[in-house]
Amino acid sequence: MNTAIPNILVLGGTGRVGSHLLRHLESRAAQGKVNVFAACRRIPDGSSRGGDSAFGRQVRFRHFDFDRLDTYASALAGIDRLFLLTGYTVAMLEHSKNLIDMAQVAGVSHIVHLGTFHPPGGPASRGVRHFVWHQLVESYIEHSGLSFTHLNPNTFMQNCIGAVDQHSLRMFFADQRIGLVDCKDVAEIGALSLLEPDRHAGKRYFLSTEALTMEEAAAVLSQELGRAIKYQPLSPAEVRSLPLAGLIERSYFECIVDIAEKMQRAELPDFSQTTTDFELASGHAPTSFREFVRREIDAFAA
Ligand SMILES: NC(=O)c1ccc[n+]([C@@H]2O[C@H](COP(=O)([O-])OP(=O)(O)OC[C@H]3O[C@@H](n4cnc5c(N)ncnc54)[C@H](OP(=O)(O)O)[C@@H]3O)[C@@H](O)[C@H]2O)c1
Repeated sequence: MNTAIPNILVLGGTGRVGSHLLRHLESRAAQGKVNVFAACRRIPDGSSRGGDSAFGRQVRFRHFDFDRLDTYASALAGIDRLFLLTGYTVAMLEHSKNLIDMAQVAGVSHIVHLGTFHPPGGPASRGVRHFVWHQLVESYIEHSGLSFTHLNPNTFMQNCIGAVDQHSLRMFFADQRIGLVDCKDVAEIGALSLLEPDRHAGKRYFLSTEALTMEEAAAVLSQELGRAIKYQPLSPAEVRSLPLAGLIERSYFECIVDIAEKMQRAELPDFSQTTTDFELASGHAPTSFREFVRREIDAFAA
C-alpha cells in the first residue's frame, strides 16, 4: 500500500448509496489519486479474497461486520477517510459510536456520514425517531474532533422501485409533496467530500432535489413505463402488513409506520422541502425523477 496516497474506506458498498459511491471513486483510484476499500460482511459474488473484487478492479475488499467488534480494527487499519453508512436498524447508534471511537484510534482524519433530511428545528428533526438517532450520531462525530461532512438526503428515488407493481405505486405519503433524491447524486456528493475533505470539512449537505406528490410520480412512471400506474396511498395499518415489515429491524420499521401516521395528519411538512445544495456542491443539475426512471427502467420492469 502506498502511504502517500489517501486510503478511503466505504461502508455499505453492496447497497444503494454505497455501490454508486464506489463507482464514483473508482476512476480516481484508477488515476492513482486514492486507494479505495469496501468494508463488507462477505465478499460479493465474483470476487476473490485479496484480489480484484466484484465491485470493480480498483476496489479492494476488507472484511467488516458491524455486529462483530473484532472486525473493526482490521477494517480501519491504515485508513485516512471513512464513509460511514449504517443500516435500517436502531443498532446504528452503537454501530456508529463504536466505529467512530475505533476510527479515532486508527488515525482516520475525515468522516463522511450518511444521515437523514432533518432541517434544524423542523418537525421531522424532533418527530421522526430515526432522524433523531442520526442527529445523535452527527453530534458524536462532531464531538470526536475528527474532520467531518454530513450528508442529509431526503427520500431516495430508489424507494419507488419496490413500490411499483403492474398498475400501482403503493406509498404511505398521503397526498403530500415529497422531496426526492437519487442515491447516485447522494453518492456523488459523498465522493466529492471524500476526495477533497478540506473543501468539504464541517459542511452539511441537505439533498432534496425534486418534490413530487405520489400522483405526480405515478404520472411520470406511467409515461416512462408505458403502462397506466395509479397512486395507491397506503394507510399505516397497510404499511404494517407489507412484506417489508419482516425484513427491516423492528424499531426502525416502527419509525416508518410512525411517519405514515404523521403524514396522514400532515405533521411533517418539511419532507416537501427542496434545496440547491446538490447543484452548489457538484456544479451541475441533479437527476430528475424522470431521468431516474429512464435509467432504472429494467428494475421497474422486473
Ligand atoms: N431510504 C431512504 O429514503 C433514506 C433516506 C435518507 C437516509 N437514509 C439512510 O440511508 C442509510 C441506508 O442506505 P442504503 O439505502 O444505501 O442502504 P442499503 O441499500 O439498505 O444497504 C445497506 C448496506 O449496509 C450493509 N450492512 C448491513 N448490515 C451490515 C453489517 N452488520 N455489517 C456491515 N455492513 C452491513 C449492507 O451489506 P450486506 O450486503 O452485507 O447486507 C449494505 O451494503 C440508512 O442509514 C438510512 O437511514 C435512507
